[in-house]
Amino acid sequence: MSDLTVIVLAAGGGTRMKSKTMKVLHPIAGRSMVGHVLAAVAAVQPTSVVAVVGHGREQVGPHIQQLLPSVVLAVQEEQRGTADAVRVAVEAAGTTSGTVLVTYGDTPLLEGATLRAFADDHVGSGRAMSILSGHVADPTGYGRVVRSADGSVEAIVEQRDASPEQAAISEINSGIVAYDAAFLLSALPRIGNDNAKGEYYLTDTVALARGDGLDVDAFPVEDVDQTEGANDRFELSQLARIKNQRILRHWMAEGVTVIDPATTWIDVDVTLAPDVTVLPGVQLLGASAVAEDAVVGPDCTLKDVEIGAGAKVVRTHAELAVIGAEAQVGPFSYLRPGARLAPRSKVGAFVELKNAELGEGAKVPHLSYVGDAEIGEGTNIGAGTIVANYDGVAKHRTVVGRHAKTGANNTFVAPVTIGDGASTGAGAVVREDVPPGSLALSAGKQWHLDDWVLNKRAGTASATAAQEALDRTDPGTGSGTGSGTGSDVGEDGSR
Ligand code: UD1
Ligand code: CA
Repeated sequence: MSDLTVIVLAAGGGTRMKSKTMKVLHPIAGRSMVGHVLAAVAAVQPTSVVAVVGHGREQVGPHIQQLLPSVVLAVQEEQRGTADAVRVAVEAAGTTSGTVLVTYGDTPLLEGATLRAFADDHVGSGRAMSILSGHVADPTGYGRVVRSADGSVEAIVEQRDASPEQAAISEINSGIVAYDAAFLLSALPRIGNDNAKGEYYLTDTVALARGDGLDVDAFPVEDVDQTEGANDRFELSQLARIKNQRILRHWMAEGVTVIDPATTWIDVDVTLAPDVTVLPGVQLLGASAVAEDAVVGPDCTLKDVEIGAGAKVVRTHAELAVIGAEAQVGPFSYLRPGARLAPRSKVGAFVELKNAELGEGAKVPHLSYVGDAEIGEGTNIGAGTIVANYDGVAKHRTVVGRHAKTGANNTFVAPVTIGDGASTGAGAVVREDVPPGSLALSAGKQWHLDDWVLNKRAGTASATAAQEALDRTDPGTGSGTGSGTGSDVGEDGSR
């Protein structure tokens, strides 16, 4: 296509959003509304893209530039109407010939294919102007496409300027219009603001073209949602749901099972392989990627997470984490940035990982915090282990070797290394490096105040139970008048 300038109108702030965030920056499916429009615009391979910014331009401008560094930003100081906005745009772009395609920054459901078919048709037709129109059940608020008896387009009449008969027309102007640049440049200076809103209407170009004896036509888009804008939070939520349903349909067509589309939310940049199963209550966000045969859900929120083939992730919250093939995560697991799980590893219930690597087949099955750590392949971390990675000033690293078996309720005080094949006893507080193959024991020796319960809690159910047990095992001792002295317990538990 020769010389195609696309204008994205985004000068409106969106008062009805009642937000400090400008309207076009509100996200749907993990991308701003204007981001979706720019993605659709890319499909027409424009020579240049001009974005008209005004309200909140210090927010909107940099956002658009980040998404499309080649964009020309045109500043419209005052919102004087769509024709004024387009004038500002063509001046900024220095457009003199070719085709000009006008789009809005707040239509997140617009598809590249729709825009492309519309633009291609316009260019091939030689028309001065083409209008992407639509038939809607309630045309209130839109410009109406007024056709003459032979069906040719005569004018677009805005809501506030429409006669009752015109207001009854169901064909509306979507706002997406294509122009022969030469005609547009000749028309813009001729547009006045003598109308109900006192604005410069771009839609006046229709009557001007007809007056010049030029061709204009309008083409109803089948799927009117595509040109729908979101003006308030409710409309935003409705468009978000429609977009989500489209994303889900796409992935289902690609071989993904989605059990409950009503409670499954997938961002636009997520990728899913065939034979992935997504159970109810799952949000797959950001640039998450799920490999084949993985089962995700129920009830997960996963942002920028990579999930390997055949992995199972249940009731998990994760961000910037990598879950290897056939790994198992959950239920109730929390994977924070830098959690990297090798294939066939396991993270179980009430386990939090942060900046921590699990080797192949390594397991952290229960109730643990593992931060700034490396756990070797085949190693099992005991229930209730806490990696004390933070000394109040700095974070330190913990390394556990291969095929180690650490005891329940351990604390690893970083920096510390537990060697390959080592073990630790239950309750160990590991402050010193453990050599490969050693058993580390740090818990204090257990000792007993004999008969304490019998003496101090006499008459309670506990005392009675104790007395009965003592009578059974060794009748004649434990009379309830014991000495109350302590006794040590040997390493093997014997006295
Ligand atoms: C406009 C059309 C109407 C169409 C409708 C579709 C005109 C005169 N009317 O009406 O025919 O049915 O869109 O939604 O074109 N904008 C600027 N600068 C301005 C004014 C608007 O950048 O000075 C931007 C807005 O941010 C918005 C878009 O242009 O993205 C449309 O403006 P808006 O005022 O909402 O036009 P409508 O009255 O809805
Ligand atoms: Ca509007």
